[in-house]
Amino acid sequence: MADLDTLVSLSKRRGFLFPSSEIYGGLGAVYDYGPLGVELKRRVADRWWRFMVYGHDNVEGIDAAILMHPTVWKASGHVEAFNDPMIDDRASKKRYRADQLIEGHIARLEKDGKTDRAADVHARLVEALNADDPTVPLFEVIQAEGIKSPDSGAFDWTPVRQFNLMFETRIGAVAGEDDRIYLRPETAQGIFVHFHDVRETARQQIPFGIAQIGKAFRNEVVARQFIFRMREFEQMEMQYFVKPGTQAEAYEEWAEKRLQWHLGNGVRSERLRWHQHEKLAHYADAAQDIQYEFPFGWNEVEGIHSRTDFDLRRHQEFSGKKMEYFDPQTQERFIPYVVETSVGLDRTILMLLFDAFHEEQVEGETRSVLRFHPALAPFTVAVFPLVKKDGMPETAHAIEADLRGAFNVFYDEKGAVGRRYRRQDEVGTPFCVTVDGQTAEDGTVTVRDRDTMLQDRLPADNVRRYIDDRMAAWVPPGA
Ligand code: GAP
Repeated sequence: MADLDTLVSLSKRRGFLFPSSEIYGGLGAVYDYGPLGVELKRRVADRWWRFMVYGHDNVEGIDAAILMHPTVWKASGHVEAFNDPMIDDRASKKRYRADQLIEGHIARLEKDGKTDRAADVHARLVEALNADDPTVPLFEVIQAEGIKSPDSGAFDWTPVRQFNLMFETRIGAVAGEDDRIYLRPETAQGIFVHFHDVRETARQQIPFGIAQIGKAFRNEVVARQFIFRMREFEQMEMQYFVKPGTQAEAYEEWAEKRLQWHLGNGVRSERLRWHQHEKLAHYADAAQDIQYEFPFGWNEVEGIHSRTDFDLRRHQEFSGKKMEYFDPQTQERFIPYVVETSVGLDRTILMLLFDAFHEEQVEGETRSVLRFHPALAPFTVAVFPLVKKDGMPETAHAIEADLRGAFNVFYDEKGAVGRRYRRQDEVGTPFCVTVDGQTAEDGTVTVRDRDTMLQDRLPADNVRRYIDDRMAAWVPPGA
């Protein structure tokens, strides 16, 4: 697997991701997608939408605004409880998440074989995180364990403080306390407040889900690891409304479906695992994550949460509007329970980049290849004339024009064909079509496979169908 630096450099060099406003020194934990990155991102989002919305007749889509009435965030609990415990190193003036410092310490103890002590610290961490005010017990663990600053090596900490992650802004021209609003820290609330609107207009009955893809904002205390933890990011969330008492079944069902979705994108199964939450969020009665083994450790990519009726009940309380559902079959009235699937789009992209990255030695050179699922690759096909003469560019352009109707196509006629293949391997283009001397004689071209580097020769007219068939039959390399 690539290390983080290799991936950051590849992403920038080939136009997947750029640091935001880089000519001004960048903006912490904010990134922009370049020409190849935006293609990958759109394909991942599209695949999620097709699976969740088109794949289920009881899941409807919406697209809610980022700005919402400020009371939404009081009702949801975010104003009061959406905090991270932070601590500052007085020597380096760097800020850390207190819980992450302790987790790092536990990982080091485990690595050194001190498993009993690691388990003890872990138990104290869980207890601290579940306390009403975790700041004091977290600080005590850091002090008792003598945890030093990772950057300066100093042991000169400020007390632990809670830090609210929501970005604030003002609405309207006149600034005042009443004008304070927030950039949404999750897309879910836009779904909860429209529960009745969607149910009525789409004529759904429970159980049914509402899906959404959109931006979320969190003023993360520590922003590291590239697009893993961003301050502006995108979520793909679905809230599934069920009858109370049936949530466990829906929770299991959606957890399995979501894992299968990631596997269907070609992510290696051995790098995915389940992780049960140790500290449940303020709204949940059960929660687990799908984690991926990044080079910096196992980390969450998607959360599956059983959110009870917390959100709808609170919105009913704060808005005074009924959030109850009337079950026509049983004639019962109840506030539905909610099972949520919540995956970060950017984090999925980071996972896919790591998972697809592969280096191998070919004829004495290092070949770097992104083995994306063909349906996700930014370019599906590249078209080359073998040389820039003998009518080959004209024929290649005609094939390119034909394929453009179906795929995102890249045309290249510069340099040795071997170099052109390598450049496409590096960005994950699964198929390269080459027009050569034989094309003028019998109308055939070669199609080279990114993963095996083998070539098939076929009539140029058949290339479109050939690529469609190969994409439909694709299995991840090594599967
Ligand atoms: N509505 C529930 C919710 O927001 P979460 O576990 O806080 O749950 C869900 O977030 C997913 O959103 C995470 O699994 C992760 O993929 C993504 N995510 C959260 N914070 C992020 C950040 N700062 N940068 C990038 N992705 C993030």
